[in-house]
Amino acid sequence: MRMVDIISKKRDGAELTAEEIKFFVDGYTNGGIPDYQASALTMAIYFQDMSDREIADLTLAMAHSGKILDLSAIDGIKVDKHSTGGVGDTTTLVLAPLVASLGVPVAKMSGRGLGHTGGTIDKLESIKGFHTELSKEEFVHLVNKDKIAVMGQTADLTPADKKLYALRDVTATVDSIPLIASSIMSKKIASGADAIVLDVTTGAGAFMKNEKDAVRLAETMVRIGNHVGRRMMAVISDMSQPLGFAIGNAIEVKEAIDTLKGKGPEDLTELVLALGSQMVVLANRAPSAAEARKMLENALSNGTGLEKFKSFVANQGGDPSIVDHPENLPQARYKIDLPARSTGFVSEMVADQIGLAAMLLGAGRATKNDTIDFAVGILLKKKVGDQVVQGEPLATIYSNREDIEDVKEKIYQNITISDHCQAIKLIHKIITE
Ligand code: URA
Ligand code: CA
Repeated sequence: MRMVDIISKKRDGAELTAEEIKFFVDGYTNGGIPDYQASALTMAIYFQDMSDREIADLTLAMAHSGKILDLSAIDGIKVDKHSTGGVGDTTTLVLAPLVASLGVPVAKMSGRGLGHTGGTIDKLESIKGFHTELSKEEFVHLVNKDKIAVMGQTADLTPADKKLYALRDVTATVDSIPLIASSIMSKKIASGADAIVLDVTTGAGAFMKNEKDAVRLAETMVRIGNHVGRRMMAVISDMSQPLGFAIGNAIEVKEAIDTLKGKGPEDLTELVLALGSQMVVLANRAPSAAEARKMLENALSNGTGLEKFKSFVANQGGDPSIVDHPENLPQARYKIDLPARSTGFVSEMVADQIGLAAMLLGAGRATKNDTIDFAVGILLKKKVGDQVVQGEPLATIYSNREDIEDVKEKIYQNITISDHCQAIKLIHKIITE
């Protein structure tokens, strides 16, 4: 087999065989196939697309390029949740303990943030002492004991994806449905979940800018998962504006705690309930999503979700006092209000740009090696649809530098105030297998 023949076959629009796909993935992972041939193939895939069968074969080849995590030592149906990315997306911090408090084992592998999207691990590390470098034995032990653990991605998980993602990032081939679907699903399959709930975001802050593409990506991933014997569900959720009010690390932890106390933002709470009820159903803990939702609402109002969050933090070395004393989280030196320049309704908040404004403060990374300032971020005071009077704060900026004209200007440029507005629908669609 020759790589050049595989490239020309895909370039001309033909379907690749499972053997050809495996030849490429293995060869690229072990260094036998050079970057220039891999980038030619990914560009051919970008333009010619792939069949479901090809995507499933690509996913499996990538999943098997490294170690597959064997979680069979965990009792029960392990359900994972994955988001395709967002701004201020605090969902996992609320969802994982809430679902675990109902007895569903949550064994979650999470990533760090890059660019305008934040990572769950970074947010958790804003809690003093919290660590996610668990051995497989510790991970399994914690999930069996307390139904919840979050660990960072191990170095030997899907090496093919690590290499390919870095290549796609610099060859303009990230936003390709077959490449995104296989990248995400290979990691989910390798990390051992039995059932997977996908939060596929759509809008300015997401990979998929419109609903049609988001639905196609979601359906593709659901089919891949089913094909390899995983139970699957997908929710298409809005990411045209940031989720909740907080965009940062420590301030998102605080937002998660407020939400577990039943005092969280409406959109974050709703998304948690929508995703959580699907997770509970897939874990066979409730007969219907409606029943599951009631159970989750109870766990919010009676504080069991919050208690689970506290023990989860303590289990992984973190300081649980932050639950009752959020002032023990890292605090920014300056809290600066951003007054509205006019009166009207907020009609647009461009999610990715607001995420980039938070990054300017130090809340995110521009490159993999940047360090994060956990204390800083943006706390929105208004969301799309809200009325605002000139001079009223649109947001409070948490900063460790005094001069933040650049950040203010970026936020102003990306919040529109008009004399009318349209409310945003949070959940666009739910896709079942
Ligand atoms: N997230 C991933 O893990 N992979 C992609 O290709 C896109 C988003
Ligand atoms: Ca948020």
